[in-house]
Amino acid sequence: MFAIIGGTSLLDCRIFSGWTEETVETPFGTVTVKRGDGVVFLQRHGSPPLPPHRIRHRANIAALKELGVHKIVAVNSVGSLTFSLEPGTLLVPDDFVSPWHIETFFDDEMRFMIPVMDGNFAHEVFVACREHTMAVRMGGIYVQTIGPRLETRAEINILKGFGDIVGMTLASEATLAMEMDLPYASICSIDNYCHGIVEVPLTMDEIRANVTRNLSTIESVLDTLITRGLS
Ligand code: HPA
Repeated sequence: MFAIIGGTSLLDCRIFSGWTEETVETPFGTVTVKRGDGVVFLQRHGSPPLPPHRIRHRANIAALKELGVHKIVAVNSVGSLTFSLEPGTLLVPDDFVSPWHIETFFDDEMRFMIPVMDGNFAHEVFVACREHTMAVRMGGIYVQTIGPRLETRAEINILKGFGDIVGMTLASEATLAMEMDLPYASICSIDNYCHGIVEVPLTMDEIRANVTRNLSTIESVLDTLITRGLS
C-alpha cells in the first residue's frame, strides 16, 4: 500500500470523496486518513486545517508507518525562484534545503540520518506526470521556509542562490519519511513566481488561480498512480 499526502489544493479532491475515513493513534496525536484500494490519502493540514508552521508532521508520518504504507507520494504547492520555471509547471525535486528548521523522530537517541531522496522513485513519479503534461521537470532543489507568511523580496533574493522552488512543507515530511525508511517523492505544483522574481506584484489571487489550473493535471497523475500502483 502507498500513501498520497496532499495540501490545501486537494481539500475537495473528487478522487478521495468516496473513500472511507479511518483514524490512527500515534504518540504525536490522532490522524485521519481516507482509505482506497491499495492506497491511503492523508490531508497534511488535518481537519480543521492547521497552517503550514503548525502541521503535525510527526503524527502524519508516524500514522502512515503505522498503517504499513511502503511509499509516499506528496503534492506540494511551491513558488518558483527562476524565471524559466513558469507557474503551471510541475517539478519533481531530487533534493531540498531546510537547515533552519529540522523535524525529527530522533529527539532522545543519538541517530544521524544522512538525507538522500530516492532518485528511482522520483523518476517513476516524473514518468507518470509526463504522461499527462509536457510542463514537468525532473529534478530541482526545494527550499523550505517556515511560513505561514510568504517571503520578502530580500529573502527571495537570497534563496534563489539556494534552489529552484520554495514551499513550506516538503523538507519536514521528506526528513521524517527518511527517518522511518519510507521512500518519499513529491509532485511540486508551481503556483506562482516567488516574491520579486517578476515585475508583476505577487498576489494570493494569482496563487489560487494557478492552484486550480494545475489541479486537473495533478488529479490525472494521481488517478494513474492509483490505478497502476507503485513498484
Ligand atoms: N513561497 C512559499 N510557499 C509557497 C509559495 C511561495 O511563493 N507558493 C506556494 N507555496
